[in-house]
Amino acid sequence: MAIILDGKNLREKILADLKIKIDKFSKKPSLAVILVGEDPASKIYVKNKEKTAGKLGINSEVILYPDDVDEETIIRKIEALNSDDEINAILVQLPLPKHINKERVINTISPQKDVDCFTMENVGKLASGLEPSVYPCTPRGIMLLLDEYNIDLTGKHVVVVGRSNLVGKPLALMALKRNATVTICHSYTNNLKDITKTADVLISAVGEVLIEDDMIRKNSVVIDVGIFRDVNGKVRGDVEFDEVSKSAAYITPVPGGVGPMTIAALMLNTYELFLKQIKRSS
Ligand code: GUN
Repeated sequence: MAIILDGKNLREKILADLKIKIDKFSKKPSLAVILVGEDPASKIYVKNKEKTAGKLGINSEVILYPDDVDEETIIRKIEALNSDDEINAILVQLPLPKHINKERVINTISPQKDVDCFTMENVGKLASGLEPSVYPCTPRGIMLLLDEYNIDLTGKHVVVVGRSNLVGKPLALMALKRNATVTICHSYTNNLKDITKTADVLISAVGEVLIEDDMIRKNSVVIDVGIFRDVNGKVRGDVEFDEVSKSAAYITPVPGGVGPMTIAALMLNTYELFLKQIKRSS
């Protein structure tokens, strides 16, 4: 039976440690979140972020816009947040409605306040092996979880299924930086199973039931980034957990694995951007 990579438990440890650090400052870190429209999943994510920030003493300001907001309104708001010294971190919750130019909105965020590592400048640094302002939240959360369980990626074959800008691509770059041999698979990959079976560490970030027991290598590490409701309304991930957990060495549950780590990483990122801003202005 696989060892469970317990993201919930690690999140609590990280947040407790972070709270002690934040309590030492009279000024508090602050995070601005822009949420456009009524996407139910986004609303839940944003609520969770607000709640967690509140517990830590991080100021969070949520700016809500209706679905039909015009792009200029968002751009002007981001510009105002960029020049507001009281704001350390800016997050634009994705997805955005189709009529909004996502690239333009994201790249209006000051790279120094880009808590998601989404701007061209930070993505370029990440791709060049340089230090971005902070690392993207979900990949960073996964790396923290691997570190907690002393899972070293050096020389390992890491297979990432999913090539999104949010998770798959940055994760692959971060695994490369840790000297892994990295393969990215996606919906056009031929013979997916032949590749996933060679993974020492298999990370699935797709959002559909995909990873079955015969697709994994025995005693490998299986990380499930997917989270969605199945036809019966049950929250689950990409991996057939009950089967795969019998042959993997380590596995993340859904919920309680990667999800909580994303939030923990967001709080760490907000704090680190706050520290950097203090340094710059002192
Ligand atoms: N939508 C789903 N996950 C994320 C995330 O980590 N950051 C942002 N900005 N939007 C998301």
